[in-house]
Amino acid sequence: MRIPIERDGERSLWQQIEMHLRQSILTGNLAPGTRLPASRELAKDLNISRTTVENAYATLEADGLVMRHVGRGTYVLDPGTRIPPLGGRSQEGWPRWQQDLLPTARHLAHETIASSARRHPAPIALTGFGDPRRFPVKDFYRAIKEVMDRDGTAALDLGDLRGYAPLRATTAHILASQGLSVSPDSVLITSGSQQALALVIQILLSRGDTVLVESPTYDLALEFFRIYGLKVVSCPTDAWGMQVESLESVLQQQQPKLIYTMPNFQNPTGVSLSLARRHELLALSERYNIPILEDDFVGDLRYEGSAFPALKALDSNGQVIHMGTFSKMLMPGLRVGFLIADGPMYNRLVELKRVSDLATSSLIQRSLEAYITVGRYQAHLRRSCQVYRRRRDAMLNALDRSLPGARVIPPHGGLFMWVTLPEAISSRALLPFAIAEGVDYAPGGRFFTDRAEGEGYLRLNFATQTPENIEEGVRRLGTAIQHYRLLK
Ligand SMILES: Cc1ncc(COP(=O)(O)O)c(C=O)c1O
Repeated sequence: MRIPIERDGERSLWQQIEMHLRQSILTGNLAPGTRLPASRELAKDLNISRTTVENAYATLEADGLVMRHVGRGTYVLDPGTRIPPLGGRSQEGWPRWQQDLLPTARHLAHETIASSARRHPAPIALTGFGDPRRFPVKDFYRAIKEVMDRDGTAALDLGDLRGYAPLRATTAHILASQGLSVSPDSVLITSGSQQALALVIQILLSRGDTVLVESPTYDLALEFFRIYGLKVVSCPTDAWGMQVESLESVLQQQQPKLIYTMPNFQNPTGVSLSLARRHELLALSERYNIPILEDDFVGDLRYEGSAFPALKALDSNGQVIHMGTFSKMLMPGLRVGFLIADGPMYNRLVELKRVSDLATSSLIQRSLEAYITVGRYQAHLRRSCQVYRRRRDAMLNALDRSLPGARVIPPHGGLFMWVTLPEAISSRALLPFAIAEGVDYAPGGRFFTDRAEGEGYLRLNFATQTPENIEEGVRRLGTAIQHYRLLK
């Protein structure tokens, strides 16, 4: 095997070998199942020590890109279905019930990308959600302290199953300020909106049922649907969100049990559903008796234009279940989200929440409520909108300069920019080049049911980095494209 190495290069020898093999695996030049040369053989070929090769192989194995069988050699794994590290055991070393799980025990692609990105001396991740440097650490610390002093043991008890009553009232109050009038009794506090999604799915759908989503859509919703054994049908999107006009025949033929949609600043495209389409979607949902799960994960992060009413606000017939979160506006580690639902659905949700995790942390709910009530939340939100707007503009300018030929629909809010790559560039194959340059992004494939559909796209997060880093990150992306074109 010929691996180009520079003996006095910037990176150590094992890193160069590891990077070369990683790129070959991720670009498909080394196909799954390929046997890599034995470490002794490769060391001799390259005139280096065997330990150097062993280090490179061990790192690839830790990232799930190769599997090593003692006595049989090192094999390339399918990067799409990476098997997690096996704790030093060969596949056959596990009990049979564990072996049955191996084909479905995937690595999350994101974890692998992040861990690779860390290897660049100063990587810039255009991934993730909000900017951790903007977390209101001191104010939240004060809020926790206040709550502990004020509530004592009550703050550490389980509390109301539906969520801390004042926080439910405050949530209703925030929603009212966005034109959505709900009673605190319709609010259920959840452990992040990811739990809200899981609860709704488990109540309304069974294995084999069909859920309708936008295409592309939130990757971890797709992952959840896959793990839960659902059939996913999708409706294409354009600059005004889901193409609702083409939906009726799909509803008739596929009979989904639920429509999952993000009407505001959708993940990953950043587009919002037009008002006319909101009305039409509701009408279809009523006509075919299909509930809608409205995921408003960043509705408050608006940088221009005025908001359309939430689907829930237009819904006079009770078709819509609404979910939201404090993760994106504040801090994802709080794990506080909420559902708005009524009637039997609300009762079923509470029941399932109880058996799922008993309750969302009372201390965190109380602290969040204290933090919001003194007005710190609104101030933080206003400031975040100013900061993120500047970052969005910086990214649009940087894309113009460094990625000629790429197309993007400028988002009016949220966190993401959806980039259509120039010509026939595959975002999956480009990723190792980008990582080598020190920039990370989310390749488009993971947001589609058929990954191949997403090859020509990538998602950038403009909220996590400073304008200077955005400028540099996009410049690196441009360089990665140049290298990709030379080598492909
Ligand atoms: C569209 C969307 N919905 C829901 C979630 C879940 O967020 P959380 O559980 O932190 O509220 C995410 C997280 O990234 C998301 O992107």
